[in-house]
Amino acid sequence: PAQALIFDLDGVLTDTAQTHYRAWKRMADEEGLPFDRHVNEQLKGVDRMASLEIILRHAGRVLSAEAKQALAERKNAYYVEAIAAVTPADLFPGVERLLEQARARGLKLGLASASRNAAALLERLGIGRRFDYIADAARIARAKPEPDIFLDVAAALAVPPAQCIGIEDAAAGVIAIKRAGMAAVGIGDPAALSGADACLDAIAGFDLDAFVSP
Ligand code: G6P
Ligand code: MG
Repeated sequence: PAQALIFDLDGVLTDTAQTHYRAWKRMADEEGLPFDRHVNEQLKGVDRMASLEIILRHAGRVLSAEAKQALAERKNAYYVEAIAAVTPADLFPGVERLLEQARARGLKLGLASASRNAAALLERLGIGRRFDYIADAARIARAKPEPDIFLDVAAALAVPPAQCIGIEDAAAGVIAIKRAGMAAVGIGDPAALSGADACLDAIAGFDLDAFVSP
């Protein structure tokens, strides 16, 4: 039986996958870089610099390391500005109830977000203290789709990967969960998350009885 739930953050617990997209889009428009929601699918779960590289590759633009650093910082400034307005009301429906029910069943709760802004965002959402462990993306060797961040959380929770359920909205994240040897629940379009063991439209549909035996 599952002993731990390991959540991604952006696009799983709150709508910040959109916030990331809008911040990238604002920077891309200013720079005349073609960028749309289709390209954005490849950015989900991918760290900041790798995301910028995907945008530049798609646009056929080559930049110096300094210029790339400046664009990544500008996007992050737009993102940080946007999440300053986040409150607990921005949690997706059902998140608080799920965290409470999981806790009541004795499940460990972990967070595996690639975002360097994850701790600040959790604080604004008012759920920072609900997690037994929150991975620090800056200290993870290999980004998703490698399994490192999920394995880091499982080790910190002292739960074997086979007893963990990972929950992700990103294709790279689902691959990372499977490579970690965990069960994967995808949130979003099943066609984009084909490696997941189960797929839901939204976190509100997560039924503990279905995924974790009572
Ligand atoms: C998450 C998001 C990505 C984002 C990454 C890094 O994985 O899904 O869209 O690029 O975090 O976020 P950061 O806040 O560190 O730029
Ligand atoms: Mg995500």
